[in-house]
Amino acid sequence: MKPVRILSVASEIFPLIKTGGLADVAGALPLALAPLDFDVRSLVPGYPAVLRQLEKPVAVHQYANLFGGPARLLDAQAGKLRLFALDAPHLYDRPGNPYTNAEGKDWPDNAQRFAALARAGADIGLGLLPGFVPDVVHAHDWQAGLTAAYLHYAGKPRPATLATVHNLAFQGQFDKALLPTLGLPPEAFAIGGVEYYGTIGYLKAALQLSDRITTVSPTYAREIMQPESGMGLDGLLRERRAVVSGILNGIDTEVWNPAHDEHLAARYDARVLRLRARDKAALQQRMDLDVDAERPLFGVISRLSWQKGLDLLIDALPALLAHGQLAVLGSGDAALEEKYTRAAEDHRGRVGCVLGYDEELAHQIQGGADVLLVPSRFEPCGLTQLCALRYGAVPLVARVGGLNDTVIDANDMALDAGVATGFQFAPIDVPALEGAIVRAASAFRDKQAWSRLQLNGMRTDVSWEQPARRYAQLYRDLLATR
Ligand code: ADP
Ligand code: GLC
Repeated sequence: MKPVRILSVASEIFPLIKTGGLADVAGALPLALAPLDFDVRSLVPGYPAVLRQLEKPVAVHQYANLFGGPARLLDAQAGKLRLFALDAPHLYDRPGNPYTNAEGKDWPDNAQRFAALARAGADIGLGLLPGFVPDVVHAHDWQAGLTAAYLHYAGKPRPATLATVHNLAFQGQFDKALLPTLGLPPEAFAIGGVEYYGTIGYLKAALQLSDRITTVSPTYAREIMQPESGMGLDGLLRERRAVVSGILNGIDTEVWNPAHDEHLAARYDARVLRLRARDKAALQQRMDLDVDAERPLFGVISRLSWQKGLDLLIDALPALLAHGQLAVLGSGDAALEEKYTRAAEDHRGRVGCVLGYDEELAHQIQGGADVLLVPSRFEPCGLTQLCALRYGAVPLVARVGGLNDTVIDANDMALDAGVATGFQFAPIDVPALEGAIVRAASAFRDKQAWSRLQLNGMRTDVSWEQPARRYAQLYRDLLATR
């Protein structure tokens, strides 16, 4: 049997370029599918960071003019990943964050930048590169959203299409006047096409025109069909519910492995969990916290944004500090950055804050914190709680989305059954968060019970193995039913 060929289209991919979990998924899923007899190639924009890290790039196609300038498709390798990089200097040769300029504002030509990605994805889907004609085109988030539209309106036999929603909050909405520029036919601007409340909606187009839709957890799949969480797209998702499903993410268990993690002061596994104490002390030193083994150290690794609920944590800080310490690594919202910086100044030795993106420190927090906090208002899947489970940092999470599906609350029933892995709180407000913090702090005092929680977490399968099987099944179903 020939392997099934999948073209994955995504605007970021770990380890080449990452702003969040999308990159982790786009980087890990292809590798997890390889042993299941899938040949996966990933199409990504040729940002400087991507082009720099390509091994053996070969130009396999030239565009004379792709939305305002010449472009090339490079076939290349990066580690174990097989890539097509879209080298289009007029669109992607810009430093830093893939979506925003130095002031943090969206690039004014993002409509063209990501239409180009989708155009190239659709072209490959339609057979542009004879060496790789995909059976399925799998497009991630709004940035790849128009792929399904270009395929749909091509009026030719096309591969099967799957859209994955990693975050419904980012939808890619642009002025309808761009329609001809984007190379979409006038009839595309309709309710059954790319039209979205009078604008062009990239994510909307993907949800409307893809054969299947997945999102990254079963709970989020249900939530986004409700008006409260559907962000304007719940109606469409309800209409298409027969093709919508939720598949949980995994994490790369080689990248995230406390037994071999070179970023840790002490490496450990379930048998020598006591060594974690060294990582806690090292983290406390690194974050200018008092070295204190007795009180629980709460950690945060996050984008600082409304989604992540970190304003709630600021309000719950007095309750937290009555019981333990806080170490925060994050960046984003300027007001939140300032609040956490101020908290670290006001509570020296008890609150530590590092602003920015720091891969190494993220590992050290997973290895050294007793509790990992994820108080999100909504969370499609969430990856940091999965890393926390693997590292014996007990997750304390809001009961939403993928957090609900991956952490088993230490309630009496779960404790009796010996399956608890962490703490959940609901509703998503300050008193409930405070309540969970107090619960975690008091559980921490019972060392035996605490290590049971840690060990249950460390035994949880957070790898890509099961999720990859689910995607494999979905791709096969999709091909069988077209
Ligand atoms: P989201 O994609 O919504 O930001 P996820 O939990 O799915 O949330 O993924 C976040 C990913 O980014 C995780 O791999 C996490 O470790 C990483 N991350 C988030 N913030 C930082 C940071 N400041 N420094 C290093 N890694 C970070
Ligand atoms: C998004 C979501 C996050 C999810 C990630 C990967 O960034 O916010 O919950 O884990 O995508 O799917």
